[in-house]
Amino acid sequence: MTARLPGFYDEQRQRVEEALEEWLPAFEAEPQILTEAVRYSVLNGGKRLRGVLVMEAGRLAGRDDEVTAGLAALIEMIHAYSLVHDDLPAMDDDDYRRGKPANHKKFGEDIAILAGDALLTRAFYVLGHLSAPGEELPVARLLEVLTEHIGVQGLIGGQILDITAADREADLEQLKAIHRWKTGALITVSLLLGGIAGGANEELLKGLRRFGELIGHAFQIKDDLLDVTADFEKLGKEPGADERAGKLTYPALLGVEKSQQRARQLIEEACRMLDEVTTAGGRLNELARFVISREK
Ligand code: IPE
Ligand code: IPE
Ligand code: MG
Ligand code: MG
Ligand code: MG
Repeated sequence: MTARLPGFYDEQRQRVEEALEEWLPAFEAEPQILTEAVRYSVLNGGKRLRGVLVMEAGRLAGRDDEVTAGLAALIEMIHAYSLVHDDLPAMDDDDYRRGKPANHKKFGEDIAILAGDALLTRAFYVLGHLSAPGEELPVARLLEVLTEHIGVQGLIGGQILDITAADREADLEQLKAIHRWKTGALITVSLLLGGIAGGANEELLKGLRRFGELIGHAFQIKDDLLDVTADFEKLGKEPGADERAGKLTYPALLGVEKSQQRARQLIEEACRMLDEVTTAGGRLNELARFVISREK
């Protein structure tokens, strides 16, 4: 399967890059080693899928401006923090990320831990500083929804399930819970932030939430599959890491073919569901298909 990158993707990705450049600490900001480490792990060629999802959910709900771009940037900062910590020796112990040495390989573990902390903190700085002339932004609501998804019953809880499951007996329900929290939650909240900032009604928000859960689940199945099927050149991280670490993954549990089938079903369900909620979901559906056709 070749990657089906939507026609609008590059333009939206570019807007996310610009917002990141605007909101990250400047390169020369002190302490320099920290800003260098922070910028190293953000401005290094990520796909910006979560950022693009923020932009597109905002657009669907009726907002497409520097506010959604700022939200996209802060989501990518949180994503980058999670990757810096995910690669640490105490976690997945991976040496490469996005085709370059992982943050701790380049700067040392102490700096990498603090760079992750600084990225997470910077995301909240951005949320606190976003503004739109003549308008009150729903910052408290955004904060509430964001923190619900990246904490104990979200991204961090999912990472805990991931590392503790490695030693346990294989179980599909547990695997779904891992994927829902460690990966699905950040993807879901990307859509919700865009939707809330755009003033989406409750029905649309419910649809965006469900869409996020489904494509988030498929996204992590595809990540598990790429770990088995892709090579370093494409992936930018060392393949085979999950098996070496004894991780509970879809291909380990169901095999490659059934995992691919499951991911496809989830994406079809997501697109069908969104079409029932809105007639304007075409671009989000294209992104959903990209989630499983991607090669990195
Ligand atoms: C990798 O995410 C981490 C997972 C949640 C599986 P991406 O594949 O989106 O990583 P980048 O941002 O494009 O590097
Ligand atoms: C990462 O999952 C999830 C988070 C960082 C929250 P993985 O450990 O599978 O991601 P990769 O394969 O290292 O990118
Ligand atoms: Mg991991
Ligand atoms: Mg990992
Ligand atoms: Mg992985």
